[in-house]
Amino acid sequence: MLTFVTTNPGKVHEAEEYLGSVEQFDFDYTEVQGEDLGTIAAHGAREAYREAGEPVIVDDSGLFVDAFDGFPGPYSSYVESHVGIERVWRLTEPEDDHGAKFRTVVAYCDGEGFDAGGADRREGAPNERTVSGASRARADSVRDGDPPVKIFEGVVPGTIVEPRGDGGFGYDPIFEHDGTTFAEMDTEEKNAVSHRGRALAKLGDWLDETGRV
Ligand code: IMP
Repeated sequence: MLTFVTTNPGKVHEAEEYLGSVEQFDFDYTEVQGEDLGTIAAHGAREAYREAGEPVIVDDSGLFVDAFDGFPGPYSSYVESHVGIERVWRLTEPEDDHGAKFRTVVAYCDGEGFDAGGADRREGAPNERTVSGASRARADSVRDGDPPVKIFEGVVPGTIVEPRGDGGFGYDPIFEHDGTTFAEMDTEEKNAVSHRGRALAKLGDWLDETGRV
């Protein structure tokens, strides 16, 4: 069984639809400071694999607001807890552009190498906007002897709106996609369009193809 290393049960709930039964390992791995979700997730996956000793996934996500050049992006967690999602909406409201993207990087590590592409290879979605300096930070994080990590990305476009809905978690109430906020969707509806759903679908396909889990 695959182990999802996270303190967030909402993420595990969303993952189960794609990966079947998933075990949550409530381990608070180090979130390295960086501008690239891939760097943060890959570092976390290695640390979590060393701790768990079995195949693990971690995910790192961020809200990238177009009017703020991608901010808060990798700082989304800090901004959610120190600024709050309501104020993120209030800050965005006077701007002409209310567009945003949600991105997730899911990182898989089982201590073994991969056939094609090697460590930290990305699957899909290479062109979405990120804050600058991303690839430099990612490259710097890999050291000799580190177990390889496979990376899967998902991105979804949306609009920042006044909070609506009671479901989901995090920024879901202010992130609208096709007229509905993520907090107004049930898990199945959110997964069908969401950043995490897209990344998990790629991971699920790859696990099947390689006969891993
Ligand atoms: P992390 O990847 O768990 O560190 O999440 C970064 C920030 O994005 C946190 O503030 C989360 O609450 C938020 N977040 C992560 N995934 C989602 C999502 O699917 N919907 C809304 N907010 C999310």
